[in-house]
Amino acid sequence: MSTPHIAAEKGEIAERILLPGDPLRAKFIAENFLENPRQYTGIRNILGFTGTYKGVPVSVQGTGMGIPSISIYVHELITKYDGKKLFRVGTCGGMHPDVHLRDVLIAQAASTDSSIIRNIFGGSINFAPIADYELLSKAVANAKKLNLPARVGNIISVDRFYDEEIDNEKLRKYGILAVEMEAAALYVLAAQFHVQALALFTVSDHLLTGESSSAEERQTSFNDMIKIALETAIEA
Ligand code: HPA
Repeated sequence: MSTPHIAAEKGEIAERILLPGDPLRAKFIAENFLENPRQYTGIRNILGFTGTYKGVPVSVQGTGMGIPSISIYVHELITKYDGKKLFRVGTCGGMHPDVHLRDVLIAQAASTDSSIIRNIFGGSINFAPIADYELLSKAVANAKKLNLPARVGNIISVDRFYDEEIDNEKLRKYGILAVEMEAAALYVLAAQFHVQALALFTVSDHLLTGESSSAEERQTSFNDMIKIALETAIEA
């Protein structure tokens, strides 16, 4: 069996799946955090691996960037491979003065300027894409346990990385913590197919201050986020 985008047999992908955008991050996570990782797909160089974490089967699948790309992988993982607990693990741009470089953020909700909500619900309903509460509460508890404080709140998943028109001031005023490009799609698909999803991020750059973290700093905070995601994945 294979889908158009994932070359795995049924059963080769675990119910618990981490979803980095960058396929090489998928490889890094598999090689550095999982026991006995095995690559199950490489179509378009979008890599996917399954191994175990503390003995529990976990997969890690690259998604590419943006809502159209992650939507393809998440749809196939849920509908063809029975994915049940999906964790986006990515980077985001800090938006809010309370958010700092290298912080770990957890998206309680994912606002979006994408047309996905409108295309599903029509113009009169503004569906709120939200995190699964069980995963969210367990991730917050695990962050505390690991002494890695995580900030929880609303983020925005945008369609354009380079967006001269976006009103960052208004988003800040309404408490949006950060900007990224995939979480809203993950939450909408999880709602559609009744599975659990959570998006976690590290702040790689800041839109207010213009700062960005070095590759080394990025790696450390990325590893902290992965630990929170994996501990939550095996518990939930
Ligand atoms: N914008 C959109 N997505 C991002 C950013 C950003 O500044 N940083 C990391 N992901």
